Amino acid sequence: MTIDPQSPLARGTAIVTGASSGIGQAYARRLAADGHNLVLVARRADRLRALAAELTGTHGGVRVETLGADLSDSEDLDRVVRRAAEDDIDVLVNNAGINGYGPFAETDPALLEKVLAVNVVAVTRLARAAVPGMLARGRGTVVNVASTLAFAGSLPPGPLPTRAVYGGTKGYVVTFSRTLAAELDASPVRVQVLCPGLTATEFHLTQGQESVSGDQARVHDDGGMPVEDVVTASLRALETGEVVCVPGLVDGAAVDRITEAETGLRASSAGTLAPRYRDPAQQ
Ligand SMILES: NC(=O)c1ccc[n+]([C@@H]2O[C@H](COP(=O)([O-])OP(=O)(O)OC[C@H]3O[C@@H](n4cnc5c(N)ncnc54)[C@H](OP(=O)(O)O)[C@@H]3O)[C@@H](O)[C@H]2O)c1
Repeated sequence: MTIDPQSPLARGTAIVTGASSGIGQAYARRLAADGHNLVLVARRADRLRALAAELTGTHGGVRVETLGADLSDSEDLDRVVRRAAEDDIDVLVNNAGINGYGPFAETDPALLEKVLAVNVVAVTRLARAAVPGMLARGRGTVVNVASTLAFAGSLPPGPLPTRAVYGGTKGYVVTFSRTLAAELDASPVRVQVLCPGLTATEFHLTQGQESVSGDQARVHDDGGMPVEDVVTASLRALETGEVVCVPGLVDGAAVDRITEAETGLRASSAGTLAPRYRDPAQQ
């Protein structure tokens, strides 16, 4: 797909977290093909350097920087935050994420903290760093990668055992992104939350404490959507202005129905105790 020169994605440098594999790597390839300069972020700096060499070799004129950083490390995050705040950044793809799957009561609290740091804190800090400059320059795009696991985690069918913290972090990303998109609606800065379902990446080969070893990108055996399709959906949704992009969702109106249901819940801010909570003796 060719990007419309008038679109918010049409110019500037893009910073992509988690660009050493999977969706982030595919996003970096697409943005480079569309002429963006890139800042690639992940722990595996060797893979980032290899991708940078590939992209500058393929797309003459595109500049690619690499930032080897562990986004759960506060000093590393500060370094990436400083780069995201520089005035050439027009696109932020907050893609890096880890799963930390495991029974809640047995999972190492340090791992759960890391899931929160990468999936929530880094996403928020990087957006906070990049958005003011985007507003000042009158253009910019933020894509935050969540998951379909943000939805219906507690409801049958298909509750999400071993995924409570991961689902919680992705719920944060959805609510954060939708609310920020509404706040910035009158501005030229676009915010999208990308919610892939099962995707063919390395994601399920590790809980996220450490990277998957080896230089070559590997893919889990459970199938899933190709990363290129996930990125195609995201780019298309940016063109059409969809805030919540769910690449595999055929019935796009389902997102509107969530909003309708939420509006019903919000109507409860009336200040009157609902009858079912009242003391039966006093009714
Ligand atoms: N695959 C799926 O089924 C699926 C479904 C829904 C949503 N998602 C979401 O999609 C996003 C991308 O995941 P993916 O599927 O492409 O998985 P992936 O291939 O495992 O990619 C994850 C990326 O995040 C980076 N990363 C992980 N921990 C990091 C840290 N502490 N600091 C910096 N970078 C870190 C990894 O690089 P290094 O290891 O080199 O740091 C890697 O580049 C995630 O937010 C994930 O939650 C995935």
